[in-house]
Amino acid sequence: MKLLVTGATGYIGSHAALELLDAGHEVVGVDNLSNSSRESLRRVEALTGRDVPFVQADIRDRAAMEDVLREGIDAVMHFAGLKAVGESTEQPLAYYENNIGGTLALTQAMEAAGVRRMIFSSSATVYGDPARVPIDENTPTGRPSNPYGYSKLMIEQILRDLAAADSRWSVALLRYFNPVGAHASGQIGEDPQGIPNNLVPYISQVAVGRREALSIFGDDYPTPDGTGVRDYIHVVDLARGHVRALEFLANAVSERPDQLDQSPQAAGAQASANCHVWNLGTGRGYSVREAVAAFEKASGRSVPVQVAPRRPGDIAECYADPTLARQQLGWQAGHDLDAMMRDAWHWQRQNPQGYEV
Ligand code: NAD
Ligand code: UFG
Repeated sequence: MKLLVTGATGYIGSHAALELLDAGHEVVGVDNLSNSSRESLRRVEALTGRDVPFVQADIRDRAAMEDVLREGIDAVMHFAGLKAVGESTEQPLAYYENNIGGTLALTQAMEAAGVRRMIFSSSATVYGDPARVPIDENTPTGRPSNPYGYSKLMIEQILRDLAAADSRWSVALLRYFNPVGAHASGQIGEDPQGIPNNLVPYISQVAVGRREALSIFGDDYPTPDGTGVRDYIHVVDLARGHVRALEFLANAVSERPDQLDQSPQAAGAQASANCHVWNLGTGRGYSVREAVAAFEKASGRSVPVQVAPRRPGDIAECYADPTLARQQLGWQAGHDLDAMMRDAWHWQRQNPQGYEV
């Protein structure tokens, strides 16, 4: 299949592009480079020996999207978006405009071009503060604590409504838990601009000497060691989940309801015949202190820490029940925490300043 990957130069988009190419698909990348470097896709081309045509454009530019989509695109993997939780609280309009406005323009361009298969990057943030863990897809969506999270929840609803209105559409809403790590080559990885918001990039930058110490945001949570627990998932596993979801959508026969999964689990997962929801996580939660210890083991470097107050909006515990993706997609995460930290470190050590040379 020929894929349009939005946000293709970004962290997850570049890894997905690589896995799509490895699986024999073609990729056209789109990105406005607001939070990424053109270099990432050049490296994907070097790693795979394949060309990745790239269009520097904003997904809100509907005409530009339509032009690209008319070049024989079969499906869209939609990663483009703003994702800094704290920034979204300060600039809610920018987040709603970019994420929701961008998705609306993109889906309208898809409709005009007759491309009606979409895989969307959602997030476990849509569950808010869940009543229980592990979180399966039946867990009601909650109240995200920030505009970024609401943008994901609203986009899910828009895509669900679109699929309900027109059975020619097929949609996968993939709810990521905490993507970390990098491709095993160390050639592509996460390259946050400025001070990292997320745990593993911050730890990596401490280990490589760019920052002094990690602040642990709270050690008084009701968790085994008091620090927050998350379901870290290797970005390569996550990317492979996308390839499986794509293949599932392509093989789904929406005209034949007898072939659809009618199990209570699938029905309860806010799924419909042509709109699917899957958690992409490992099913295991690790605390901040466990993550730091695993990184120290993988890197052989010590990571100084200091305990700081809780970060507003954080929850104590969040990890997936990934059973549905295993059953329906035949997908499960293959990398453990040690492998995630090894690959995160491999990337950081080889690229101490990220893609900047
Ligand atoms: P990223 O910032 O590395 O990649 C997103 C890319 O989208 C960037 O390259 C950016 O330049 C581009 N972009 C943003 N707005 C655009 C626009 N209007 N037009 C064109 N390009 C635009 O982030 P990522 O970590 O790779 O995340 C990819 C997707 O996954 C995002 O939608 C994000 O919200 C979602 N997600 C990420 C995480 C995570 O922890 N990384 C967790 C859950 C969901
Ligand atoms: N943490 C620290 N110090 C830091 C950074 C993080 O102690 O410098 C802690 C957090 O308090 C939390 C854990 O490390 O307990 C993970 O924090 P991250 O910022 O790495 O990830 P979050 O779980 O807060 O959020 C991430 C993405 C969101 C996404 C969510 C889905 O940033 O976009 O996962 O679960 F919505």
